[in-house]
This record gives sequence, C-alpha cells and structure tokens, in this order.
Amino acid sequence: MQAGFVTPSAAYSEFIVQMFIDSHAHIQLSQFNRDRDAVLKRAHEAAVSNILVIGFDMETSLGAVALSEKHTHIYATVGMHPHDAKDLTQDVLNTFRELAEHPKVIALGEMGLDYYRNLSPRPVQKTAFEQQLDLAEELQMPIVIHNRDAYMDILPILEARQGKIRGVLHCFTGDVELMHRSLAIGFHIGIGGIVTYPNAKDIQAVAREVPEDRLLIETDCPWLTPQFRRGKRNEPAYVRAVAEKIAELRNTSIETIGEITTQNFNLLMGTCFK
Ligand code: NI
Repeated sequence: MQAGFVTPSAAYSEFIVQMFIDSHAHIQLSQFNRDRDAVLKRAHEAAVSNILVIGFDMETSLGAVALSEKHTHIYATVGMHPHDAKDLTQDVLNTFRELAEHPKVIALGEMGLDYYRNLSPRPVQKTAFEQQLDLAEELQMPIVIHNRDAYMDILPILEARQGKIRGVLHCFTGDVELMHRSLAIGFHIGIGGIVTYPNAKDIQAVAREVPEDRLLIETDCPWLTPQFRRGKRNEPAYVRAVAEKIAELRNTSIETIGEITTQNFNLLMGTCFK
C-alpha cells in the first residue's frame, strides 16, 4: 500500500474497532484554553471516541457542562471534590441536582475522601461525601469517586450502600486485595497513567487481575501523564498509552482493551440509553 494511503474500509474498521473512552478528564481547565481544539483533534485522531469531563467544584462542573454542550462526543459530571468539601452548601447541592437533569450530565462526582492533603477537615469531607451519595441514590446516577489514602473510610461508606449505588473508583491506587473489596461492592476500577510508571507494581497487578467487565481507562488530564510524556501536560489522546500498557500486562491487544472498556463505560454510565 502507498504510504499515507488509507482505503475507506481500513479507515472504517479502525474507527469501529479501535475506540477508546477517556473516562476521566479535566479539559475544561485553563491549562487547555490556549489549544483545546487541537487537543480534541488529537484525541479524535487517536480514536478516542468519547471524553467524560469531570467537575470537582461549582466552577469546573459548570465548565464541564458547557463543554459537553459544544461537542456531541463529550459528556460531563457535576460534583464537589473532598478538597473543597466545605463549599458544598445546600444551594450548591440544589444546583447540582438541577444540573444533573441536563442530558449530557451522566454521573455525579468527583466526590470522596482525601486524607493525603486534608484540605478540608475529615468530618466535613465525610458529610459532603454522604450528601452527594444521597443525591446519587435519589437520582439513581453513577458516581465517580476520588480516594487518596482513605480506603479505610471510603470502603465501609460504600459497603453500607451496596446495591443502591454504582460507579467507578477513579485512578485506582490500591492493591489487589482492595480491588476485590471494591469489586464486591459492585464498583468499577478506573486505571490511568500511573500504570505506565515502571515502579507502579501494585497498580500493574490490579490492571492484570481486574475482571474485564469492570475495567475503565482514563487520563485524569492535565495530571498523571503516562511515562512516554511524563512531566508534560496530559491530554485525552494519551489514554491510548494506558490501554496499550494494560493490553501488554493482560497479554491481549489494544483493540480488545478499547472494546471492553468502551462497552463497560456505556453500560455503567447508561450512555447507550441516552
Ligand atoms: Ni480528577
């Protein structure tokens, strides 16, 4: 075949088979203001078919929704990060409830607990987390969980609501044992760029062993850039590097990882019904 020449059928099959969803991106942030269109174009060229833009406070939630209105393949979440848990007033909760009815808002979060930076007091974090879990139950929406050094508190909170909530533990950094506990509650495991770091043995073991119907891939861009661009800004196109590493670890093809994670995302988030 001539260099640079792609037959229509080859292009078509690439589009169908090699499809990746970045299940956790923050491309509403100012780090992307200068070149957001170019970033989206690179994602498209990398066969990243959909991007879930994650809100983590009022401003970034509104930013996620605004972006989802501009692009058919972009979806949004609304929620309050544990760092800013103290800002989750009743008014903010009510606004999240209204925003959740938007057709492009498919999940709540990111919410959770962060005992690493402790930017909000722990009791305040827990209250904000429980209030958002109540909202998720009320609206029957999936949730995106942020956890840092807080499994000992997050897992019991989720276990108490087992069967009533569903969602993803984003940027999973636990070991295989914690993975099994999370799976038992019915949660999905979100794997990001850390899996590509040479010393990330625990996460690589999780990526190897997580059942194929519970795996999601993500970038968490602009942070957690995969090894091949480590130190630079992350972006949705690089979710391919995550899929590639997981494929290597599981001894399968990148296409398979693309297929199963896309299917998992659509089933979990209900995008196939929207
Ligand atoms: Ni995030």
